[in-house]
This record gives sequence, structure tokens and C-alpha cells, in this order.
Amino acid sequence: MQVVDNLVALRTRVKNWRQHNEIVAFVPTMGNLHDGHLSLVQKAHELADRIVVSIFVNPLQFNDKNDLTAYPRTLTDDIKLLSELDCDLVFTPSDEVMYPEGMDKQTSIHVPGMEDKLCGLGRPGHFDGVATVVTKLFNMVQPDIAVFGEKDYQQLMLIKKLVQDLNLAVDIVGAPTRRDETGLALSSRNNLLTEKQRVQAPLLHEQILLLKTSIENGIDDLDVAISDAQDHLKQAGFEPEYLDVRRESDLALAQLGQDTALRILVAARLGNVRLIDNIACNLA
Ligand code: PAJ
Repeated sequence: MQVVDNLVALRTRVKNWRQHNEIVAFVPTMGNLHDGHLSLVQKAHELADRIVVSIFVNPLQFNDKNDLTAYPRTLTDDIKLLSELDCDLVFTPSDEVMYPEGMDKQTSIHVPGMEDKLCGLGRPGHFDGVATVVTKLFNMVQPDIAVFGEKDYQQLMLIKKLVQDLNLAVDIVGAPTRRDETGLALSSRNNLLTEKQRVQAPLLHEQILLLKTSIENGIDDLDVAISDAQDHLKQAGFEPEYLDVRRESDLALAQLGQDTALRILVAARLGNVRLIDNIACNLA
């Protein structure tokens, strides 16, 4: 496994694989890798001959400076973990390699229809930062396939739309959310939870699971069910940002009795730590 921090080395290596007709899969990350990230690498391995993983904590997508400062950076451990898998190349660009002109002077990619809902509302500018860095990374790596986690469901939808709208030649593959034994979705931010918060955190998943069961069993009033779930979260010490039931295909507000493939999505704070989760909900 090779670790490169510059574009010339990255391009030389990938060009060589392409000349040998090898399929290249790409897994973009911000590091502090856990089993969720590693499951994406395993998925990539099923689909391609060569795997590139990027590790870059992208300042452009952090609307909150404290969140950027607190974001865990564990490059040495990350590289060790990847070296134990079938990863061929790790790309670890600096801010200067990603944004040589400075972030303010960077052309920005805006995917419409994301800023006015779910994480877009609570994190202004976040999705432009994600769309911009992912477009740049796709152009740098030039992969055939890129794997993203369903854990960040709105991000996955954003990337799919970006690729479709800009006719990018990369297949986007979604992979299921990995959880710990309590049901808590694995996340780099879990490391920032106190011991007490760690005990409270699984309630986030429990509440959306309960809501899923209620909806699938048939409920009269969705708004009441959502508000009950939010109350339970508040009572347990969470500050909910949103808890929504959406149409899975485009994240429009779900119409019960009309839509059958739904997604329940939640974001909530425990102290300073912002956690998100989502699950599918299917009506026959
Ligand atoms: P990051 O949060 O590091 O996540 C990298 C990838 O891992 C994303 O596709 C994310 O959905 C996936 N992932 C995270 N937790 C997961 C879990 N528990 N199970 C399965 N997959 C999981 O998402 C980003 O970085 C950035 O926004 C990025 C796309 C790299 C752009 O900067």
C-alpha cells in the first residue's frame, strides 16, 4: 500500500492501473477510521481491482469552527488499519494541495434542493463544501466507482445528483450503516462523547426504530408520532435538530397512504456532539 500526498504521484499510479484496464474504486473519508469506513473499503474490494482511499478533513464543509478543531485526527492509526486491508493507495492531501488558491477563491459546486432540508438547514454551506471537495477528489482520482455510506443518507443523495447533473463518469455505490452492539451508528464523533453520553446515545437509533415499527404497523397521525419521538429524545438529554420522515427517492416530505419507500432521518445533539442516523421504512 502506497501513501501519497500529492497529485502527480496519485495520477501516475492511477494512470498506470487504467492502462492495464484495472477497475478503480474510491472511498473518500475524513479519517479517524472505524469499522463503518472499513466496510466501505471491503465493498469497494468486491467491485474493483484497485482501491484508493482519501483522508482529508475538509475545512470547506465545516460551518462550525469548533467542530473542525475538535474533529479527531488519527492519520498514523488510519494508515495502519488500511494497510491491513486490500487498499492500494491512500491519498492524504494537505489544505494547500486541495485549495492552492485558498478556500475563498475556490470555485464552488452547489447542488440545489439540499440546503432547505434536514442537515442542509442546520449546517449552512455544508453541502456546498461536500459537493466541491468530492467533485475535486473525483477529478483527482478519476475512479470508475465510488463508495459512500448510507449513514450520511442526504450526502449520498447529494453525490448521486451531482454525478447525474454533471455527467461525471463514476458509478456511485451506497453501503449499509455499521452499528455497534447497542445499535449506535459508528461515527468518528462518537469518540467525543463522555461516558455518560455514550450510554444515552443509542436512544437515537431506538427512537427511529420505534417510529419505523409504528409507521409500518399503521398510524393515524404521523406528526404526533414524530413529536412523541422528539419528546423522548429531549427527556433523555438530547437536543433534537430534526426528526423527519421523508420519501426515500428524493427526500421530499413523506405522504402516508401515497409513498411506500420512506426514510426516517434524525439529527440531535448530546452536549456539543452532533449525531445523525437514518433507517429505511417500507410500507407494503
Ligand atoms: P466521513 O465522515 O469520514 O465518512 C466517510 C464515508 O464513510 C462516508 O461515505 C460515510 O457515509 C461513511 N460512513 C461513516 N460512518 C459510517 C457507518 N457507521 N457505516 C457505514 N458507512 C459510514 O462523509 C465524509 O467523511 C465527508 O463528507 C466526505 C464524503 C469524505 C467529503 O469530505
